[in-house]
Amino acid sequence: MSSSSSTRSHSEIFEKIPVHVFATPTAAARELAAEVRQLIEYRKAEGRNAVLGLATGSTPVPFYRELIRLHREEGLSFQNVITFNLDEYYGLAPEHPESYARFMAEQLFNHIDIPNENIHIPSGQVPGNQVFVHCREYEEAIEKAGGIDLQILGIGRTGHIGFNEPGSSKESLTRRITLDRITRQDAAGDFRGEQNVPHFAITMGVGTILRGRKLALMAWGENKAGIVARAVEGSVTDTVSASFLQEHPDARFFVDQGAASELVRFKLPWLVGPASWSPAESMRAVCWLSKKLGRPVLKLVDEDYNENGLSDLLSEQGPAYQLNIRIFNRLQNTITGWPGGKPHEDDTYRPERAKPYPKQCLVFSPEPQDAVVAMAGTMERLQDQGNHVYLANLTSGSLRVSDSEADKFAGTLNELAISTDESAAWLPQKAYADEVLRILAEKGEVGEDPELLRRLKALILRGESRDAAQAIHIASSEVSFLDLPFYEKGRYRRFKTTEEDVVAVASLLRQQRPNQIYLTGHSSDPSSVSAMTFSIVMQALQQCMGEDWRSACSIWIYSGKEKPFAPHEIDMAVPMSPTQMERKQRALGRFQQLTSLEVQAPDRDRATARHYDDLGLAQYEAIECFQRWRAA
Ligand code: F6R
Repeated sequence: MSSSSSTRSHSEIFEKIPVHVFATPTAAARELAAEVRQLIEYRKAEGRNAVLGLATGSTPVPFYRELIRLHREEGLSFQNVITFNLDEYYGLAPEHPESYARFMAEQLFNHIDIPNENIHIPSGQVPGNQVFVHCREYEEAIEKAGGIDLQILGIGRTGHIGFNEPGSSKESLTRRITLDRITRQDAAGDFRGEQNVPHFAITMGVGTILRGRKLALMAWGENKAGIVARAVEGSVTDTVSASFLQEHPDARFFVDQGAASELVRFKLPWLVGPASWSPAESMRAVCWLSKKLGRPVLKLVDEDYNENGLSDLLSEQGPAYQLNIRIFNRLQNTITGWPGGKPHEDDTYRPERAKPYPKQCLVFSPEPQDAVVAMAGTMERLQDQGNHVYLANLTSGSLRVSDSEADKFAGTLNELAISTDESAAWLPQKAYADEVLRILAEKGEVGEDPELLRRLKALILRGESRDAAQAIHIASSEVSFLDLPFYEKGRYRRFKTTEEDVVAVASLLRQQRPNQIYLTGHSSDPSSVSAMTFSIVMQALQQCMGEDWRSACSIWIYSGKEKPFAPHEIDMAVPMSPTQMERKQRALGRFQQLTSLEVQAPDRDRATARHYDDLGLAQYEAIECFQRWRAA
């Protein structure tokens, strides 16, 4: 993929906003931060202030880290900087752990030399009857500061910028807004449950944002890919607020490869220039053509290719009849009911090799529910076919467990202690339960969990995870909990991994010496738990390079819940029967705290089966799918 460049090439003709694509968010953040530095220094030389519009959320974190680095290591001063934040949850006090005021203090302001009076964040606490005045004053303050020089933006899955949800007009100004359901679902993890996410926010309007002299929108990870493409290549519409940036003379997107992946130049490269017809690219093109025309692969004819921009492919690999058969066979060969390899069979065209048998299969789950959501059926098959499945839960998942679960547990323990007898044997349990109940009462719904409470929540999830594993025939003894320190010490969006995490995973790998590894997170939002655990596992694997088991170990990636694999991305498709789907459903039911995306996993498995069916392959009830890991 190209990196940033100021000249736009022919391949970008569908893009109505300049998009700079970077190998990593850090690289993008560095470039943007360098620009901010220039602005600040330029303004300083003029004896003026630089006015920045700032965003919160996980996206700008690498950018803020770079600004802090510039301040600490290169002496960049923020004395002449004035900031205006885009938004704040309505109803939250600044000290609330999820308030944007606290976020900004922790992520940036506490670490640089910006004067306090230069910081502006909408208040989440103005009384209802003063909201209008507060918002008007916010607009006036921006104007008084001379307007925003550079506005930093993220983008929500609804296409919102700031909290301008679908329906926000191009002229809208700072105001109170009702948050969209999807936005609240996305924030559910931070607030330990959707029910705790505020319903309202105060946000700068689209009109306020568009008045900024320069706009820079950042987006990372494949879960943002669809909405980035709509904002950049779709028509300007109030259903995607970010699309209004198309009408701004100096707006740019800074994205990583995951977030860029749905842009035409990456998704359908043959439409914007000569393509290199690698096996992967021809597979992608034929699947696309079949879907576009609504016809199975084996029924595509030469004209179909010629009339849809694929004449190059045809002249290189045609005629259609031959090309179709080749692609069809490759798709066919991805399907296997034997994810661990079929023992004693010719494995030339099977996704997994036959030997060794049985295999040692190590399944990594970022949080305890993830592996069950993505591959319960496959784990069951592996186990039932004689392989040895070991499920390693990388983090405790304690941040997902609600207070009410902890309350239920402590309440039961308390009552049991009282009702059983008053003997000394129950005293420690009673004291423990009392302590948990006291913490819950004191901290209220929104306070941070002290260690004791997090520990209890982790234990609750351990029970659920073992229970779910049993539903798919995996014994409790084969389920482990690594409780990686980065998670135990951190909070959503604010995790930081260390060598300690890598060492823990490397030691498990050496103990297991797996023949197969299953994991996820390769192109997730880099601040997500799955992306962090992916990087930890990859570093641990790197440490094991050269060990005898390592070179013979196959690595399979399962997809994240936000973006299932498309057929051309699948290397192994494991079909599931209706009865297996019932068992998967049952296993999922053992978790109390599934998000709506997790609950919908069986529907996604069914949709994958339908895609295969549409391409002309056998009709299955559902399919779980995997990609072979190929190091870049
Ligand atoms: C927050 C804001 C929002 C976020 C968006 C993406 O100040 O303006 O528009 O940028 O919701 O959030 P993350 O970065 O957490 O994916």
